[in-house]
Parts: sequence; structure tokens; C-alpha cells
Amino acid sequence: MVRGKFITFEGIDGAGKTTHLGWFRERLEEKIASGGRSVVMTREPGGTALGESLRELLLNQPMDLETEALLMFAARREHLALVIEPALARGDWVLSDRFSDATFAYQGGGRGLPRDKLEALERWVQGGFQPDLTVLFDVPTNVASERRGAVRAPDKFESESDSFFGRTRAEYLRRAAESPDRFVVIDATQSVVDIQKKLEKVVSSI
Ligand code: TMP
Repeated sequence: MVRGKFITFEGIDGAGKTTHLGWFRERLEEKIASGGRSVVMTREPGGTALGESLRELLLNQPMDLETEALLMFAARREHLALVIEPALARGDWVLSDRFSDATFAYQGGGRGLPRDKLEALERWVQGGFQPDLTVLFDVPTNVASERRGAVRAPDKFESESDSFFGRTRAEYLRRAAESPDRFVVIDATQSVVDIQKKLEKVVSSI
């Protein structure tokens, strides 16, 4: 059995990644359906019953920064063990709305947790495991903040300042520059149609 592929979507809140997830999933399904495989769509924090309970706490409850990072990785361990690893092993593909790049960007870049601590947790929880492909939706913080302003009541992260999101964005871009073969960076200020054209190329190339 050929292992499936693991694809993640990333970006600061308001970058617009969620708009593209459903459409991208359909393109992936079309690509792999003839081989009898399917696409498992999931998200972090979350993706399992325990992970969704942790998400509720993480997005709404003030907590110590290290607790926050540990809970993100605890939810991830559960997600890997119950959802991601079994799906890939049976040959399905997994499309996740965020993964560990988000912890480096938010808890590391945004909140300032030292990178070596996050790297230690990443090694513990994932070993050397990384997505096969990560699509990073990149936008300037002022564009993201306008987009966030248009939605419902903000959660704990969505209420953060532009400077927080500036540091978060910078860490995402640093991670992308560090692993250029894994990342595709999309200028998410473009129109939905132009972004879909780029994503179409991404689907053909994997
Ligand atoms: P979402 O709104 O894109 O579903 O993501 C949930 C929020 O959680 C988002 O504001 C980013 C944040 N987050 C982290 O701070 N660290 C992480 O490791 C993950 C996965 C998400």
C-alpha cells in the first residue's frame, strides 16, 4: 500500500485560508479518487474528540504560555495517533487546517516562546514527521485585520494586536524560507479566482 500524502494550510488569522479549503479538497478528491483513495479533512487544534475539547480551552481560556504550547502539542499527538497516521497508512490523503508550523508562528513568533523549546516538543511528538506540502497564505497584517474585523466575535487569538500578527507572519515566512521544498507561499491579497489558479497548479504538481 502506498502511503498517502499530508498537506497543511497555514496563515495568520484573516489570511483567507478557510475560504479555499473546501475547494482545494474537491480538487484533491478528483485527483486521487480513481485510485480508490479519499481525502480526510481535519484541523488543529482539534480533529479528535479530545483535541476539540482542548481547542475550546485553547481558543477561549487565558493560560500560561508554556501551558498553551504544551496543550497544542498534546492535541497534535492525539491527532497524529488517531487520525493522521492511520489515514496515511491506509493510503488516504490528509488535508489539515493548520499543524505545527502554527505553533512556531503563534506561540513562538507571536508570543515569544523560545524556539528550542518548541523544537524539543516537535521532536517528541512528531519525530522527523512533517507535511509533504504546506500552503502558506501570506498577507500583510493590516489586510488580515480588516478581514478579521468583518467576522463574528473574535476568539483569544483573533483579538491579538497587529504587532502580534506581524511577528506571527514573520515566523511563518522564516519557516517557509527554511524548508522551501515543503512550502508554497501564496500572496493571499489576490482575488479568489487568481488564488484558485495557483492552487490548481499546486494540485497538479503533487
Ligand atoms: P483557526 O481559527 O484557523 O481554526 O485556528 C485556531 C487558532 O489557534 C488560530 O488563531 C491559530 C491558533 N493556533 C495556535 O496558536 N497554535 C497552534 O499550534 C495552532 C494549531 C493554532
